[in-house]
Amino acid sequence: MKYFTLDQLDTINQGEQKPARFAVIGNPVSHSLSPQLHQAALDSLEKDARYIRVEVEIGKLAEAFTKMHAAGIKGVNVTVPHKLEALEACQQVDPAAAHMGAVNTVILNADGTRSGFNTDGPGFSRAIREEFGVDLSDLKVIIIGAGGGAGRAIATQCTLEDCPQIILVNRSLGKIEELATKLLRLRKTESLAGPRDRISSIALDDPALEESIAASELIINTTSIGLKSADPSPFPSHWIEPHHLVYDSIYNPSRTRLLREASKQGARVANGLSLLIHQGALSLEYWLDREAPLQAMRQGLLDSIKD
Ligand code: ATR
Repeated sequence: MKYFTLDQLDTINQGEQKPARFAVIGNPVSHSLSPQLHQAALDSLEKDARYIRVEVEIGKLAEAFTKMHAAGIKGVNVTVPHKLEALEACQQVDPAAAHMGAVNTVILNADGTRSGFNTDGPGFSRAIREEFGVDLSDLKVIIIGAGGGAGRAIATQCTLEDCPQIILVNRSLGKIEELATKLLRLRKTESLAGPRDRISSIALDDPALEESIAASELIINTTSIGLKSADPSPFPSHWIEPHHLVYDSIYNPSRTRLLREASKQGARVANGLSLLIHQGALSLEYWLDREAPLQAMRQGLLDSIKD
């Protein structure tokens, strides 16, 4: 079965050798690669536990968590469109998740309460360190598609790490102007001293984007442009120079047009597989309170993508 619904939670262990202990919830959820990532980790750690998918309707998150707790589930990953509702359904929320306005990792505590975290931002930070051998906090970044869910999480992480430059780019400007205001407020809350103009916004079709790209060190694509192999690059790729680091949050296809053309321009490139692995690894660390087996997780994912 590709996924369970809430009504089927009492049957999740029928005919199974290992009990379901962890799950991803979303809607739709059948495409989620989290089971391949996490089951590989659980197996490599020899845990007597299964990781399942559960499809949940909007507005039913609290009910889902209660039912999953009753069914013996200990930890949950939350994906689109539930990350905000998950935050609201947790009694304890990690400050970084509260800043992001999104929870992607939940611990279902023994007493029935829920603790929420967000591993997307910190997972991105680890991915950049792994891929390029530099700290995100040292980089001038430009985020193409900062108005989407992934872009917002990354922009919040960049703000928390006080990157020397954060340029938010989006097709529709309204979303990122609102985000920029929030991030500037966050800088104040965190008592970050640098100048306010570290954070700026620009529309994807603004001719001044070329200059913004030239001024950046790390270019991040978080738009969905590139998911289809015929998609163009989100901006003219001849603007990319050899000094750039280019990260595409898309991992399937493994080389988007942006990454292919950036490579040709001499830039160093990486795809979103490392983000997927590190956000998952951090979730597992919250649930099991131990280091995650990164290599097993990577292999589990690669095998599933190959299939
Ligand atoms: P979410 O991540 O919240 O689910 P999404 O609809 O997948 O959002 O979109 C992610 C990002 O891709 C957004 O920044 C979106 O731009 P808008 O906010 O203007 O919609 C961007 N995006 C999607 N398709 C695009 C396209 N054809 N051209 C430019 N940007 C696009």
